[in-house]
Amino acid sequence: DLGNVLDTASVHGVSRETLERLDDRVAAAHDRIERGRETDEHGYASLNLPSSTDPAEIREAVGGFENPSAIVTVGIGGSALGAATLTDALDSDVEAHYLDNVDPEAVASLLDSLDLGSTVVNVVSRSGTTAETLANFLVVQEAMDDAGVDWADRTFVTTGEEGNLRDLANQHDLPVLPVPDGVPGRFSVLSTVGLAAAALCGHDIEAVLEGAAAQEARLSDSLFDSPAYAYGAVCFALAERGYTANAMMPYAESLETFSEWFAQLWAESLGKDGLGQTPLRALGATDQHSQLQLYRAGPRDKLVTLVRATDREDVSIPETDLDGLAYLGGSSLGELLDAEFEATEASLVAAGQPNVRIELDEVNEYGLGELLYAMETACVVYGELASVETFVQPAVEWGKRAARGLLGGGDFEEADAVADKERLI
Ligand code: PA5
Repeated sequence: DLGNVLDTASVHGVSRETLERLDDRVAAAHDRIERGRETDEHGYASLNLPSSTDPAEIREAVGGFENPSAIVTVGIGGSALGAATLTDALDSDVEAHYLDNVDPEAVASLLDSLDLGSTVVNVVSRSGTTAETLANFLVVQEAMDDAGVDWADRTFVTTGEEGNLRDLANQHDLPVLPVPDGVPGRFSVLSTVGLAAAALCGHDIEAVLEGAAAQEARLSDSLFDSPAYAYGAVCFALAERGYTANAMMPYAESLETFSEWFAQLWAESLGKDGLGQTPLRALGATDQHSQLQLYRAGPRDKLVTLVRATDREDVSIPETDLDGLAYLGGSSLGELLDAEFEATEASLVAAGQPNVRIELDEVNEYGLGELLYAMETACVVYGELASVETFVQPAVEWGKRAARGLLGGGDFEEADAVADKERLI
């Protein structure tokens, strides 16, 4: 629902005329996107994943692991966040953990807490050269050795044709799931990269792809017919009008990791050439008691995107005879959360701050597929409208090369720049 971004007496948003003018540019962007998809061009190929991903291939890769208690995905950025978004949103008896950061205390504490003999390890790296991922995997390998567990028996790898990780997989004859061509990490949730952990946890990955396909079918050459394009175009128009931040605020704890995924998608894809829209992460209703103060009364530079599921399990609030609390009794936590949602939305409108409402029927596999695909499409259309190169990440690559160079992992000029700075200090 984009009603609260429209220019009105209270909200300083985008006018209907602006949207109509933007619609011609969306038509041109759609044309460009379709041409890219037809030839599986780098990046655009990501939008073909609802049909190009083969769930059977993923099921086969994870099917050999019997009764796992946990899966540890070793990967970082786009090689972890998509999978984490799905497994954190959905219930499973199999625990899903992620080793992305190389914080020694966190890594040691996770490994200490696991029964490594019944844990499956999925090492994920498109490039196969990312220092954090390879370092963490070497640590996991040693921990399994120390625990008397045959790590090679409990590991599968998701990577490209080349790189250190591919070499390691070949050397130990590990099962390998290929990463699809033309799909940058942050757009890979609907591929082998994002779906393997979900499949191992017993989730319906076919339904994730079906939800994504349903959104794909809604793409058209007009933002008035395509909600995902409309959201991307509105975000772009608002950013041009000074709304340079976008606070993603789900009212569901199960979607907290989705905000993190969104933040990566938005920042790494659109933050280029001095442009972009800074993603912020918030959680309703918790952040009504903190960040909302800023969103409502701070600088007029933020769009707030509110997300909720309309159908969910509920918990009733017991009756109470405490003075002044009778209004809660007989109600439910879900009703209270909904009231908080409505209150936040209304308070933003009253303060003239633009906001968008996204509703899922349910946080399930199908709904997540719809949401993730829609957000990817919104990002791509925003990138087209802003004329940035959505599918590259030179700043991220700079940091990766600098870190490897500093550790002696190659001769990279980025590492020299860091060393020069150290000398100045
Ligand atoms: O979206 C991206 O390209 C990045 O976030 C990468 O996914 C991240 O840097 C990890 O790279 P790799 O999969 O090569 O290990």
